[in-house]
Amino acid sequence: MKYYAPKGLSDILPEEIPYWHAVEGEVRSAMSSYNYREIRTPMMEKTEVFARGVGEDTDVVSKEMYTFDDKGGRSMTLRPENTASVVRAYLEHKFFGKEELSKWYYVGPMFRYEAPQKGRSRQFHQYGAEAIGSDDPALDAELITLAIDILTSLGLEDVGLKLNSIGCPADREDYIEELVSYLEPKQEGLCADCQERLTTNPLRILDCKNETCQEIVKDGPVMTDHLCEDCQVHFDEVKSYLGELEVDYVIEPKLVRGLDYYTKTVFEVFSEDLGAQDALVGGGRYDGLVELFGGEPTPAVGFAGGIERLVLLLEELERVSHSGEGLDLYVATIDEESKKVAVKIQRELRKVGLITEVDYLGKSLQGQLGYADRYDAKYTAILGPRELEDDELTLRNMESGDQIKVSLDNYVEDIGKRITD
Ligand code: HAM
Repeated sequence: MKYYAPKGLSDILPEEIPYWHAVEGEVRSAMSSYNYREIRTPMMEKTEVFARGVGEDTDVVSKEMYTFDDKGGRSMTLRPENTASVVRAYLEHKFFGKEELSKWYYVGPMFRYEAPQKGRSRQFHQYGAEAIGSDDPALDAELITLAIDILTSLGLEDVGLKLNSIGCPADREDYIEELVSYLEPKQEGLCADCQERLTTNPLRILDCKNETCQEIVKDGPVMTDHLCEDCQVHFDEVKSYLGELEVDYVIEPKLVRGLDYYTKTVFEVFSEDLGAQDALVGGGRYDGLVELFGGEPTPAVGFAGGIERLVLLLEELERVSHSGEGLDLYVATIDEESKKVAVKIQRELRKVGLITEVDYLGKSLQGQLGYADRYDAKYTAILGPRELEDDELTLRNMESGDQIKVSLDNYVEDIGKRITD
């Protein structure tokens, strides 16, 4: 064996695909009932889209991006997330002049150079939604319920929501000042990364995974004590809409999220099934990003969920049905001549949507019947010299073993009816 997939990048094998189809199908159907339209942006962007959009001092930009110079010497980056690309596309195609509120969704691969572990990989897939053009707190609540509805309709029962507000930039400045004066006398106890964050990006210290850092920030000041009136009213309204929608939440004052574009509402959705620790979904408001990219001030809110960790959870919970994967019909043949007829028959049946297969491995009739069994064929059609002579085929019900003759004149209708009945 000579080649392996690169570390942190995985093949999604045929046996895992039913889970992916279940997730993608549910995402598309929920997005469409919530009136979000799909957008597909390129897999890579000019590096500055993420460097500016997500923020130079975030882990994602400073440590995790796949960045390279293309043959023309331009710095390019494989997308580590899609919000910055969506905002770039919104401005590039002047959607601010075309629609008052752009509600878009996406599904696709993202790339982050992280330490791979269960549910964390270097190429991973996200589904996400972005609503650009309104600061209505009801829209924050809509995105939160959309994120939760996708998970519950996939069969997750215990879905938890962590909610916080990180206010506007002025509130944050205020808060950061207090946070830094609280942390400075304790900086010796912080991890090396956080000692640096104290000057570069103190908010990041709040979500550092290091236990001593967490212990230190535990008793520190909280963001929600520093909200201006406008941000406080917005936060209260989001909570009140969630109340109307009967969505439970826990206020998590230390939740700041790892990307710099957030303002006001931030949230994460977890599954309590199997005590999963990592967030399935993360999102929030980013009212300053369109302007940062050169547009008019335009409020926006969105979220993204990771498909790998969701699939892992669904596999463990066995919540996805595998039914419908087997063959409808296996067409078994006895000689060259019947094989020629079989390929025609199978093509006609495939045209009406049946899942069929013939023998490509030179198996005996017995071997073909065994193969049909292994692939859960509902029926097997048997064609041999005798059948051809009588212008018919033998149709065997694989469950009961019953056999009947079907005329080759109207087999499409006849077989189709039996299989769909
Ligand atoms: P994020 O929290 O960085 O937010 O990622 C969202 C979700 O993507 C995470 O909750 C997780 O499920 C999944 N995810 C992230 N990194 C990995 C990884 N290395 N391996 C597997 N899954 C991963 C964003 O990306 C924002 N763009 C979300 C957003 C949209 N905010 C507003 N609009």
